[in-house]
Amino acid sequence: MKEIKSIGVLTSGGDAPGMNACIRSVTRAAIYQGWKVYGVYRGYEGLINDDVKEMTTESVSNTIQRGGTILKTARSEEFRTFEGRQKAYATMKKHEMDALIVIGGNGSLAGAQELAKECDIPVIGLPGTIDNDLYGTDATIGYDTALNTIMECVDKIRDTATSHDRIFFVEVMGRDAGFLAQNSAIAAGAEAAIIPEDNTDIDQLATFIGRGIRKSKNSSIVIVSEKDGGAMHYAERVRTEYPEYDVRVSILGHLQRGGTPTAKDRILASRLGVASIEALKEGQRNIMVGISNDDIVYVPISRAVKWDKPIDKELINVLSILSI
Ligand code: F6P
Repeated sequence: MKEIKSIGVLTSGGDAPGMNACIRSVTRAAIYQGWKVYGVYRGYEGLINDDVKEMTTESVSNTIQRGGTILKTARSEEFRTFEGRQKAYATMKKHEMDALIVIGGNGSLAGAQELAKECDIPVIGLPGTIDNDLYGTDATIGYDTALNTIMECVDKIRDTATSHDRIFFVEVMGRDAGFLAQNSAIAAGAEAAIIPEDNTDIDQLATFIGRGIRKSKNSSIVIVSEKDGGAMHYAERVRTEYPEYDVRVSILGHLQRGGTPTAKDRILASRLGVASIEALKEGQRNIMVGISNDDIVYVPISRAVKWDKPIDKELINVLSILSI
């Protein structure tokens, strides 16, 4: 196996708080090994267009506390094509990059896998997304910060909901996954969460209303995952099916992706970054580095992106018991 002397690092897909802490960690851990590090700008777009810059330890100074990503990010359409990936590989060859570290979510890691397969280069994926939807890791970089942001927002919404005796449907991100919705509902003491994973044959709204909404309370907050019409859909249903209730909607949107990362996210990002360099040193390739029971784990990228990460049913139970 070719000895690694130089790597590229990029962030791709939706940004997530803690990505900078991860770029910092990858950069410094690689330099510590005596390797060269290239920062690739705007995800795969930067590889396609040769938008890369050599990183130094100073390039990542004063970044651990910053949200967003200093390398910028993008969702590259061109990289989805074979030709696009060949252009990306040409840039890697031009700069003699021996491996690529991709910090991103599902789609970004799936892209990394394609590149690795077609061009026979070592790729390491690091889970960076607020959605927490990658199989094989207990947490993804950015998830804890987003969860805390949602919790703070819902605490504020509760003040006005209580004053007006209203039901609020608060829509949160997560794409196809309900981790943000379910856990923010528990953390903020919401009355219910409507999540895709629990949306099989039961009508979650009817269950919630049937439980005796506002029996002993003067307001209700329901956290709704963005999928399938989100909060608007459920608010409309209440307006037509249960007109006795005063309903409002709050869509939290992209504010969930911003802000300074929590300690938990900074530590996770720092650990995963160092572990990605260790993994390359060990000769690992085409894996995602994750965390399981507080230990670093290696998961084949194919599994991380394809397998569904289940929501612990216990969390659903906890919320339903505590919202009586
Ligand atoms: O994957 C992260 C995420 O924030 C999802 O939760 C959301 O569905 C999506 O990205 C939004 O993407 P965009 O920033 O392109 O609107």
